[in-house]
Amino acid sequence: MKDLQKLKTEVQEDIDQLDSNELKKKYLSSDGVIREYFSKISNVDKDNRAKYGKELNSIKNLIAQSIEQSSKEIVTQRAKRVDPTAPFDSNTSKSNRPRILDLNGSSHILMQELERMLDIFQSMGFDIVESRQIDDDYHMFESLNFPKGHPARDMYDTFWTEDGFVLPAHTSTMQNRILSSSTPPISAVIPGRCFRSEATDSSHEHTFFQCEGIYVDKGISVANMIATIKEFLEAYLETDIEVKIQPAYFPFTEPDAEFTINCPFCNKEGCSTCGHTGWIELMGCGMIHPNVLKSADIDSEEFSGFAWGFGLDRLVMIRNHISDIRDLRAGNIKFLRKY
Ligand code: DAH
Repeated sequence: MKDLQKLKTEVQEDIDQLDSNELKKKYLSSDGVIREYFSKISNVDKDNRAKYGKELNSIKNLIAQSIEQSSKEIVTQRAKRVDPTAPFDSNTSKSNRPRILDLNGSSHILMQELERMLDIFQSMGFDIVESRQIDDDYHMFESLNFPKGHPARDMYDTFWTEDGFVLPAHTSTMQNRILSSSTPPISAVIPGRCFRSEATDSSHEHTFFQCEGIYVDKGISVANMIATIKEFLEAYLETDIEVKIQPAYFPFTEPDAEFTINCPFCNKEGCSTCGHTGWIELMGCGMIHPNVLKSADIDSEEFSGFAWGFGLDRLVMIRNHISDIRDLRAGNIKFLRKY
């Protein structure tokens, strides 16, 4: 009985120090301590045998209870770690989880590339401002020198809500906000989601991202615009580029231009990326129209500036050799897994 007293003390210490597996192995296994003590029962004198067995059993139960208790605690702790984004009970074993989770989750290619672009613009000194997904006629048109009835409004035919708000067809809707809330020098880049009511094909989507840029200061010229955009593109595409500036028309710029670069893939020989022309039209740009500066109370005699707007999806497609813009939003796991 004295031995049992010692054993009980040892067990109590071990319960505090050992984990369930160690306890099980030391005490409850086939060559464990409890079995050993039971085998000594024949040495105990007859009168005490029943008492000895009872006491030994209670020590055994003590250990078993402790093991059960700690495994319950583990389950409760696990249950507390809830992942509200998981479309399954997070205690489900890996092999029983829906297959889709093999993806392990990652950011979408558009967001990965957007971050790369913004890093470059930030290193060039631009502030980043987010665009809006719903806007009004003033920011979509009026402030950008498209008065009511201007035929160029048709180029941006888009979605309207019943109460007269618009889903922006371009990120230029942010120009007036940025120009009127800051004083030159102003340099900002505005990524945002845009919408156009048009039929979709491999290069057109009703929903896409654009990235607007504006720069205003004293004595800014077209040369600054070309150098800035070129520097960004060379950093983003990680290659030297040749630039061709073609005439274009936008009510909010004067002069206006289409920024075109040599196809970085075929050495201007023509390939599927450049539509076999050797050149790729990347974005609209130009010197900000004096009326746009005026509507933001900036003196167009003293200050000038440039702006651009490019389709982010398009640039991402070029850099990653993606041939169908619809892949970017189709949610196709095979496609997403590649990036
Ligand atoms: N917003 C124009 C479009 O989506 C692109 C553009 C052209 C943006 C010239 C500009 C700009 O800032 O100066 O077609």
